[in-house]
Amino acid sequence: MSKSVRAFIFDVYGTLFDVHSVKEAVETLYPGKGESISQTWRKKQLEYSFLRQLMGTYRSFWEITKDALRYALKENERSIPSEIEEFLMEAYLHLTPFPEVHEVLLQLRNKTLAVFSNGSHDMLDPLIDHSLFGELFDDVVSVDEVKQYKPTPAAYDHTLHTLKVSRKEVLFISSNGWDISGAKNFGFHTAWINRNKLPIEELDLHPDAIYEDLTGILEWI
Ligand code: LAC
Repeated sequence: MSKSVRAFIFDVYGTLFDVHSVKEAVETLYPGKGESISQTWRKKQLEYSFLRQLMGTYRSFWEITKDALRYALKENERSIPSEIEEFLMEAYLHLTPFPEVHEVLLQLRNKTLAVFSNGSHDMLDPLIDHSLFGELFDDVVSVDEVKQYKPTPAAYDHTLHTLKVSRKEVLFISSNGWDISGAKNFGFHTAWINRNKLPIEELDLHPDAIYEDLTGILEWI
């Protein structure tokens, strides 16, 4: 654990909030299909961010999330009346926080706390404002400000300059192994919140710490 850390920067989807909490909303509309549609929705959302970055065809994460939903519903041969799309997209603004998040953030109050997400502000700001811990963050940083998706170095560089900290003063926290690899590649200290007990990505970029939930990051205080 490095004592130089004074900024804790959090990924959002899957790290602070459970993206699969939209499953209930999907299940009410499509009984028995909630899990499969929710999984495809998340998979395609990430895939499209990577593909658009590689192709140089940037679109905001809110738009990508809508595109991914359309794919997931079509894959399950479901029609997509606009009111259903609006209902499910609205669910993305009300995701369930993981149970330990608020308490852990309260114990980090004397540190710089920020969110850094692929999410655009039109989806990040309402989600965080609806939570009980939104006011604990000093900043909410979106890749949409530079139109460069994680895990590009340019994305992490943006959050570094926004927060005016040095690489070694940052602990970057994410549940997404690919995001942790990107942050490690950029030079941040990294804590992987391995909520789903997955193997480490085969990218020669090992996390500095691995925890089952956010509680473990308190040893970096
Ligand atoms: C985020 C998603 C990709 O950046 O987890 O919040």
